[in-house]
Amino acid sequence: MIRYTNLVRSFGATRALNGLNLEVRTGEIFGLLGPNGAGKSTLINLTAGLLSPDEGEVSIGGNPAGPGGGSRSMLGVAPQALALYDELTAEENLRFFGGLYHLAGRDLSGRVDWTLDFAGLADRRKDRVKTFSGGMKRRLNLAVALIHDPETILLDEPTVGVDPQSRNAIFDSIEKLHRGGRTIVYTTHYMEEAERLCDRVGIIDHGKLLALGTVEDLVGEYGGRSAVVVQTGGRETRIPTDDPVAEMIRLKQERRVRGLRLESPTLESVFLNLTGRHLRD
Ligand SMILES: Nc1ncnc2c1ncn2[C@@H]1O[C@H](COP(=O)(O)OP(=O)(O)OP(=O)(O)O)[C@@H](O)[C@H]1O
Ligand SMILES: [Mg+2]
Repeated sequence: MIRYTNLVRSFGATRALNGLNLEVRTGEIFGLLGPNGAGKSTLINLTAGLLSPDEGEVSIGGNPAGPGGGSRSMLGVAPQALALYDELTAEENLRFFGGLYHLAGRDLSGRVDWTLDFAGLADRRKDRVKTFSGGMKRRLNLAVALIHDPETILLDEPTVGVDPQSRNAIFDSIEKLHRGGRTIVYTTHYMEEAERLCDRVGIIDHGKLLALGTVEDLVGEYGGRSAVVVQTGGRETRIPTDDPVAEMIRLKQERRVRGLRLESPTLESVFLNLTGRHLRD
């Protein structure tokens, strides 16, 4: 449904995307993971038609992304850098962005009410954005992305800097959109979000796709071995193994063990195994 073919995009000497190939399926929540500077936002912005590729193509439902491609009204985007007018109220922001999609009159009012309600901001509709908390701004940023009821929704770090309550509200919203048949592309640095929400995950770094699949597939393929952590006396020893149960039984018989713990690989193990442990930027 969204197809990226040999995508290249540079900023000066920096190759933000370096020959990326990927297909996002209709109706899935697709998680895009990668370290800082991996190229996630560049990919979102190319999908939204806010940037053009240097080489390669982005197509959405068979149409090229970008101006004139006919895909803009099908897409909603919540950018990483909040795109809101601080001096306007929540409602005025939604009316402004709705107007850009040629919504007017009763249609616009209906969508404004729906999105405010959806984002849990109905009672704050008349307040200026500059009085909002970080979580309320993120929720309004999401509401703006939905004003024209798009088929495909691009969310670039939609939960950054929000408290657990707002984060859960955003998760619930995303799950509702998913149940309603929307396609969602979701970037995040939070592995547990991808584990909870995403049908499939793509891990990118240095502008290339490194791995693609369900969380379970990725953990199986790239997560590495389980380990048994054994406590004896005051010490903990970590023992990697392919058969943790057998290893635990053996340890219990052999040593005077105070405690045993199983460490299974997670999406974070996959991420670190694929992208390394060195700091970025
Ligand atoms: N407008 C720009 N001008 C110059 N360099 C840019 C610009 N946009 C992106 N870059 C560079 O391109 C690379 C990819 O950036 P991008 O924002 O796509 O990464 P990201 O994966 O979204 O990172 P983050 O997790 O920090 O948001 C980085 O090296 C970044 O510095
Ligand atoms: Mg980014």
